Amino acid sequence: MWDLVPQPGIEPGPPALGAQSLNHWTTRDVPERLNKCSRHPGLWKMLMVAVCVALLGCLQAQEHQGHVSVILLGATGDLARKYLWRGLFQLYLEEAGKGHSFRFHGAALTSTEQGQEVIAKILESLSCPRDMAPSRCAELKAQFQQLSEYRRLKMPEDYLALSKDIEARIQHEGLREAGRIFYFSVPPFAYADIARSINSSCRPGPGAWLRVVLEKPFGHDQRSAQQLATELGSFFQEEEMYRVDHYLGKQVVAQILPFRDQNRKALDGLWNRHHVERVEVILKETVDAEGRISFYEEYGVIRDVLQNHLTEVLMPVVMELPVNISSLEAVLEHKLQAFRALRGLQRGSAVVGQYQAYSGQARRELQKPDSFHSLTPTFAGILIHVDNLRWEGVPFILMSGKALDERVSYVRILFKNQAYCTQSEKNWVPAQSHCLPRQIVFHIGHGELGSPAVLVSRNLFRPALPSASWKEVEGRPELRLFGRPLSDYYAYSPVREQDAYATLISHIFHGQKDAFITTENLLASWGFWTPLLDSLAHEVPRLYPGGAENGHLLDFEFSGSHLAFSQPPPEQLMPGLDSTPTPSDFQVLRGKYRESPLISAWPEELIARLASDIEAAAVGAVQRFGEFHLALSGGSSPVALFQQLATGHYGFPWAHTHLWLVDERCVPLWDPESNFQGLQAHLLQHVRVPHYNVHPMPVHRHRRLCAEEDQGAQAYAEEISALVTNSSFDLVLLGMGADGHTASLFPQSPAGLDGKQLVVLTTSPSSPRRRMSLSLALINRARKVAVLVMGRMKREIAVLVSRVGREPQKWPISGVLPDSGQLVWYMDYDAFLG
Ligand code: BG6
Repeated sequence: MWDLVPQPGIEPGPPALGAQSLNHWTTRDVPERLNKCSRHPGLWKMLMVAVCVALLGCLQAQEHQGHVSVILLGATGDLARKYLWRGLFQLYLEEAGKGHSFRFHGAALTSTEQGQEVIAKILESLSCPRDMAPSRCAELKAQFQQLSEYRRLKMPEDYLALSKDIEARIQHEGLREAGRIFYFSVPPFAYADIARSINSSCRPGPGAWLRVVLEKPFGHDQRSAQQLATELGSFFQEEEMYRVDHYLGKQVVAQILPFRDQNRKALDGLWNRHHVERVEVILKETVDAEGRISFYEEYGVIRDVLQNHLTEVLMPVVMELPVNISSLEAVLEHKLQAFRALRGLQRGSAVVGQYQAYSGQARRELQKPDSFHSLTPTFAGILIHVDNLRWEGVPFILMSGKALDERVSYVRILFKNQAYCTQSEKNWVPAQSHCLPRQIVFHIGHGELGSPAVLVSRNLFRPALPSASWKEVEGRPELRLFGRPLSDYYAYSPVREQDAYATLISHIFHGQKDAFITTENLLASWGFWTPLLDSLAHEVPRLYPGGAENGHLLDFEFSGSHLAFSQPPPEQLMPGLDSTPTPSDFQVLRGKYRESPLISAWPEELIARLASDIEAAAVGAVQRFGEFHLALSGGSSPVALFQQLATGHYGFPWAHTHLWLVDERCVPLWDPESNFQGLQAHLLQHVRVPHYNVHPMPVHRHRRLCAEEDQGAQAYAEEISALVTNSSFDLVLLGMGADGHTASLFPQSPAGLDGKQLVVLTTSPSSPRRRMSLSLALINRARKVAVLVMGRMKREIAVLVSRVGREPQKWPISGVLPDSGQLVWYMDYDAFLG
């Protein structure tokens, strides 16, 4: 036989797909191998030539298909663990042997060792569909594991290195590059930096495609969505972007338009205001938001679910049916038209609720004080009207909530019924009786049925569904759905259930764009929801106990375009009057404190305000000077601020921001007590500040902590002088201790309180451990100083300091008075009013 010697690989790897044992053959080898064939005489030779030609065809086909690199960013995160690796494995199972070669690069910020460990575990847990033979599954899984690797992608140069590795591998194996898929399973604040790196150094070569896959949230409101879209648009073409809404990957959702298309004849006269009583688009969940409060607190149920999933499910019901539903442009155009026909939402178009345990969970997860009450809705019911001839007057109800009594999602179209039946119900024939409810339900998932299904009342019509992929639901005649036994419906479910992410990943691989959100679509949706979100910003949600105990508490009803809860809230669910937040409690108070501007509010508002002010200062500084120098204090008060900056501020120019420390404890930087660790945990690991822009204090030099002879303070001062123009920070964030200290400048401890030294070593009267701190002289050179004071414990000192003059030796905070910059006090109500 032939000597099918594989080329030496870059590293041992599984065969390229479709080539199996010929994995390292390339067309370069073929002439030589054909030559070998031709040395065999007679028939044998002919046979061999035929085989060789077939193989050549096969190899050429493989080369035509090319090599695909999939880069999963955020590969160790929750979504990746639960769905994305599974989806990629599914893709591999489907595409194995069809002529592409693959490599899967899991990437994250985690260290290589840790990342590899996590990925290995995820890969080990993958399973094949039930109908696959175990031996085949084991073989493909082993190949997939070998084709998958973890790598740390942090700095721009890491992307360049990745690109080089891909190119080297492709060249070495004599392959052609088909394309690269970058799946962004990372928080949106990281999008811009990653996008920039991909665009500048990790695009595939000419002739190969790039597909970037983006996960929601795509903004927070219309403005931020537009901003994010513009930013991403500067790096990628529209056709390169695949914005995922995983509901579009659900089998039943994907079936709505085809169902309307295939049943045009039956639906033509029915799908309109004359026949439709109402439409319900529902996603009920039993889980609550525990464990994801830092995300949820920013978004709430409307942004999390209604603006995207439910809107995307609503659209194929509402829109006019294009003549050709396979035309991407026609579907998008009709969808945009439908958005334009939606009547604007008013405050009265919604009811909102919050499960009772939510605020407590938020206090715990976000380290908020006891006084904190969140206004974030975890439940919403919305009434939508569509102002066009087809839908005039038909109510569309959208509803979703956490901690409800069941998990189910569906779209239900309920038809009007004007019939009167003369016989008693026991004599009705379901397929003929017009008195029975008539409905079409796109049962997306879960619920009592437990699976996706399309249900059509038998008294409507027998629907057509693609018989190869949909089958009639069998058995369970006793099951009742939407008030009727299952036997009252023609019911169809998919022959093979497929996970939404697996479906979408397959679409991405095939470049099929119909199940993704275009920029226009996204902005149209935010345009619709933003006014309502704004009007609900200070709405106090109705509290509900959660689960079956909710009873009828969340039932709502509508008249005209107004929606209201059906029942008044029961007394026992409301917290005491003194702690019930009211809209007016959330206003921000402005005043003067020590002759400087004061902003006072409840902690949440205060932090949000401070974060916005810092962002505004950052944007301004970057516009004018190209960089922003921010010096941050440690301790517990700024934690919430760091978290706020990490989650809610898409426009923050992190890439141009330099972060400095106001003070530091004399402990190694990795010690949990170090201020740098706090900054790292709550901010740095969530935002992409270039590492060379982060300036920890050099408290640990030559394996010693704050030794005078190591001159750490002088070194920090020199670094500041070298990088910060005039040693004048753009913004310094300070706190105020209960003894009047600020930074690590303590009463009765002269260091840093006077003199010209910029950075000093100090000693706290209450702790033997030394500190390093910016001096008053340096702080007062800043353009802006913000002092954040929070909590009841600060009330006394706040009163005292309001009355004293400039006496830094007694109250170092009183020495903060910028030479030419601005000082602003941010005090929560507890500290300011007691
Ligand atoms: C996600 C939301 O997009 O969708 C979650 O962030 C929600 O809050 C989930 O639970 C619902 O999806 P599914 O597929 O479980 O119905």
